[in-house]
Amino acid sequence: MWNLGPLTLRSRVILAPMAGVSDRPTRTLFRRLVGMELSWTEMISSEGLVRDDPKTHTYLDIVGEEPPVIVQIFGRDPAHMAEAARIVVAAGAEGVDVNMGCPVPKVFKSGCGVALMRDPGRAAAIIEAMVEAAGPAVPVTAKFRAGVTEDTINCVEFARRLDAAGAAGVSLHPRTRSQMFTHRCDWSLIAEVRREVGCAVIGSGDVTEPADAVRMREQTGCDAVMIARAAQGDPWLLAACEAALEGRPPPPEPGLRGRCEALLAHGELAVSMLGERRAVREMRKHTGWYLRGQPGARQARSRLASLDTLADLRDLVAEVLAAAA
Ligand SMILES: Cc1cc2nc3c(=O)[nH]c(=O)nc-3n(C[C@H](O)[C@H](O)[C@H](O)COP(=O)(O)O)c2cc1C
Repeated sequence: MWNLGPLTLRSRVILAPMAGVSDRPTRTLFRRLVGMELSWTEMISSEGLVRDDPKTHTYLDIVGEEPPVIVQIFGRDPAHMAEAARIVVAAGAEGVDVNMGCPVPKVFKSGCGVALMRDPGRAAAIIEAMVEAAGPAVPVTAKFRAGVTEDTINCVEFARRLDAAGAAGVSLHPRTRSQMFTHRCDWSLIAEVRREVGCAVIGSGDVTEPADAVRMREQTGCDAVMIARAAQGDPWLLAACEAALEGRPPPPEPGLRGRCEALLAHGELAVSMLGERRAVREMRKHTGWYLRGQPGARQARSRLASLDTLADLRDLVAEVLAAAA
């Protein structure tokens, strides 16, 4: 058990927020399939929420979702972020997270995401305003990188400022903006942050197998481990990491049939939640991920762009299974 502010959590393994990936169908499927405890949404624009933009509101798709759910928002104006926090809490979120790590030019140029690491005073003001707006029952957290460039690594001091401003937890992806996804993560920065702050610390980056999760916890003392890319199409990785961290034997491997069943269940959930057209487009990338490394994956990949309906997805799965039989 560990605490994220007022929330007490059993699992120390979290599916990381991923724009375009950790949407409602994915979160729901992962929960059903491997008992994932906590849902963390992809980032949502605070400005869109405050303006009541209908498209932004489609991302705040948490009504009725099994708790706990943490909604991640991005923005740079403390008053608007506080208002967005109120909206998110009213929609039912158990926690609100601020994206202070997104490196993409559009977000960075608007002063949001990792650009906030250049202005720790503003970042702290955002957290303070949101803590006040969210109330004592709802943790406010932030996720950020090592810094903006390798010459300006400031995550430890930044974490201290946010901790003092009332953050219930910080998640660190210890790469700089300029590194994007190159270089290995410097986990020693997670360890340093852990030593310096009183709030919960979540480590993110380069966990691809259960042994990595164990090493990250041992080397950094982080409270929980977040997994992003390696969990795409692999919910079983979360369960395997959890078992390793708890010293339990690994859960059974899904095998090709288990993967195909999960893929179809994911597709069906997505269609019921997003409508067939949007869902099957989203499922193209998930299909590639579920079948990664499996027999027939290459042939299946060449057909992903022509998947348009749930029937197409069912046909593809049937062919993959038949070819492997
Ligand atoms: C496709 C994709 C989308 C992402 N979107 C977000 C996001 O919306 N919010 C966020 O805080 N981090 C986002 N990230 C960063 C991840 O949460 C994570 O910190 C990073 O990928 C490092 O972890 P990994 O090595 O397990 O992939 C994204 C990463 C990927 C690959």
